[in-house]
Amino acid sequence: MLKRISMLALAGLAAVTVAGCGGGSGGSGSGGGDGSITMGFSQVGAESGWRTANTKSVQEAAKTAGITLKFSDAQQKQENQIKAIRSYIQQKVDVIAFSPVVESGWDTVLKEAKNAKIPVILTDRAVDSKDTSLYKTFLGSDFVEEGRKAGKWLTEEYKDAKDTVNIVELQGTTGSAPANDRKAGFQEAIGADPKFKIIASQTGDFTRAKGKEVMEAFLKANPDIDVLYAHNDDMGLGAIEAIEGAGKVPGKDIKIITVDAVHDGMQALADGKINYIVECSPLLGPQLMDLAKKVVKNESIPARVVTEETTFTQDQAKTALPERKY
Ligand code: AHR
Repeated sequence: MLKRISMLALAGLAAVTVAGCGGGSGGSGSGGGDGSITMGFSQVGAESGWRTANTKSVQEAAKTAGITLKFSDAQQKQENQIKAIRSYIQQKVDVIAFSPVVESGWDTVLKEAKNAKIPVILTDRAVDSKDTSLYKTFLGSDFVEEGRKAGKWLTEEYKDAKDTVNIVELQGTTGSAPANDRKAGFQEAIGADPKFKIIASQTGDFTRAKGKEVMEAFLKANPDIDVLYAHNDDMGLGAIEAIEGAGKVPGKDIKIITVDAVHDGMQALADGKINYIVECSPLLGPQLMDLAKKVVKNESIPARVVTEETTFTQDQAKTALPERKY
């Protein structure tokens, strides 16, 4: 399925002007002087196939856009991201971009960037800061909608079922925007019908190893699991190993819904081991570089840029796989 990514401004937030809200480059770069731009980018880590594809997209897009990229991997630790951002402030980069590992606890360091007049772009994940002047824009998916899509598929799939549907949930990193929002959206979609019961829900930290470990524990404690909802493909793939290890057939004995649609997830979907995938696109690099160029030049940008995404059934995965880029 072809994916279209477009820039959508949320109602009321469109055409937010960068100038006048801490914008402009205080960076060394030149931010517009000789035209060269230096971006400091703090990545969450390398926890999943999605993250690897996202890192590649950012690095390749920076090269194409002629932006000098200073890249750091936080190994899923907030303190490492805060250190990286402080170091980018010291180095006087032109623009800072980061994908926050968790939602809260960013105000202090974001104020430091604002005081240094270095604009910040949130990419992939949001922060819960009340002061939205601390960053220029947020580029990424609507994670609540992703959760809703997963829940809607489930309610449709089991619309004629009379018995209780026992669901286990593998959550993403505790406190992260995708874990909070995918849970909330899913709950919202299934909430009205008491036949859907989440009998166990625990974090698998977005990794394959943790997904397997937690699913093994779920299987030991709950003999009657009907459905697994995993907040990403990697945890779902780890869980498949646990399900097979327990002598059950993934996709049949236990139906599986995941989020991301990275290559390995799509292969498992095409093979019938996953039943449905909600897409989350990691290809944010080109849009990020466009936004960075505008921010550095004090041009107007939308306060929110939402990535457009689709969903995949098993048949759709078979068609899409040969063209899948990540
Ligand atoms: O923030 C996006 C999420 O982070 C992806 O769904 C997951 O795979 C990644 O680790």
